[in-house]
Amino acid sequence: MDFFFRPRICYCSDDSFVSNFFITARRFGPGTVFLVRETGSPQLKDQMHDMRRTGALSRGRAKARGFIMMLMMVSSVLGQSKPRITKQPFGTADGKSVEIYTLKNIHGVEARIMTYGGTLVSLNVPDKNGNFGDVVLGFDSLADYQTAKGYLGALIGRYGNRIAKGTFRLDGKEYKLAVNNGVNHLHGGVKGFDKVVWTASPSVHKDGLHLLLTYLSRDGEEGYPGNLNVTVEYVLTEKNELKILYAATTDKPTIVNLTNHSYFNLAGAGSNTILDHQLTLNADHFTPTDDGSIPTGELRSVKGTPFDFTKSTAIGARIDQDDEQLKFGSGYDHNFVINKNGQALGLAATVYEVTSGRVMEVFTTQPGVQFYTGNFLDGSLKGKGGQNYPRRSGFCLETQHFPDSPNKPAFPSVVLRPGETYTQTTIYKFSVR
Ligand code: BGC
Repeated sequence: MDFFFRPRICYCSDDSFVSNFFITARRFGPGTVFLVRETGSPQLKDQMHDMRRTGALSRGRAKARGFIMMLMMVSSVLGQSKPRITKQPFGTADGKSVEIYTLKNIHGVEARIMTYGGTLVSLNVPDKNGNFGDVVLGFDSLADYQTAKGYLGALIGRYGNRIAKGTFRLDGKEYKLAVNNGVNHLHGGVKGFDKVVWTASPSVHKDGLHLLLTYLSRDGEEGYPGNLNVTVEYVLTEKNELKILYAATTDKPTIVNLTNHSYFNLAGAGSNTILDHQLTLNADHFTPTDDGSIPTGELRSVKGTPFDFTKSTAIGARIDQDDEQLKFGSGYDHNFVINKNGQALGLAATVYEVTSGRVMEVFTTQPGVQFYTGNFLDGSLKGKGGQNYPRRSGFCLETQHFPDSPNKPAFPSVVLRPGETYTQTTIYKFSVR
């Protein structure tokens, strides 16, 4: 007799957001599908979705098979934990309470996301020996997130990356944005989406654990036109993917470019530098900049330059070469043009860290990715567990539209008009080699 197992997550909306799963056992050949579900969570009874039963089993056979299935289920989930979402208070900001939500899948992969800045606080994934490690940089206290520079783990908006001189024209009108990076506007301004408290709504679905964050950015905030309704949904799947789904609508023409600013270190946050990580970027071109990191408008071929990561290469192999672009960024701090068609979801990057065996793949709908090697980390930040974060101890892959697009008509448009919906999807997928 053959059985096939299909773990399913059931939706549960009680206060603890504890979810559960059941197993579908199916005998190959015509006829029988048989469900075994874990009990012990009475609130699930009314909330099981998607349960199917086809064919018929005699009561006796069903009981016998049920018993076998229970045993198989126990062995198949041994060592796995229940998928769940919990929340803890984490202080207050702007007079609002801040919470951290913990999403944990059945493999034990855990993402902690804070309502302040919609920040990814920690991400625990297994290495090749099954040992879990936190692969994103961050802090232990809300105060550190509020005062530190660097946007560690935060959501970025309304406009990720730089807008030259904080100025752009839209429909013949000039807009002046907050200037917070020399003469330029960076990552949404003085108080961007990384410094506001988002409203959170957790739920458990078949495809994974969801945390929906919402924020209304008022007309005029940081100089941007239009009331912008923003939603960002983090989804931790059973395939060890962290998906981030962004959406926004506006009541006046405006510009939008949302991203996440996590610094990764696949050997574990606070370990060494990321210079030995092997990176592949699916990009034949990048956008070179001036000395203020504003793109010149050119799409330059990476061929024959230290920007060629089309084949897996150590991040540090060429980072200190005598190259004007590397000097401008103090290392890599550049937008790469992803080889892909329009809005389709495509592979942007693969990163491999040999000692842990961890692999991270990044998929996105966006045309670009900012590859930033933490050049401005200087060891002065006191990170999680008292670790310090030296220069280049984390890298960012910020999926995005190109920097300064509002002033570069040849770059893909970042304009959002009333009646349209901005969307972007990015997936960070973890595995081992
Ligand atoms: C920018 C860097 C900046 C960093 C932290 C990155 O997205 O490209 O220039 O230093 O964010 O602010």
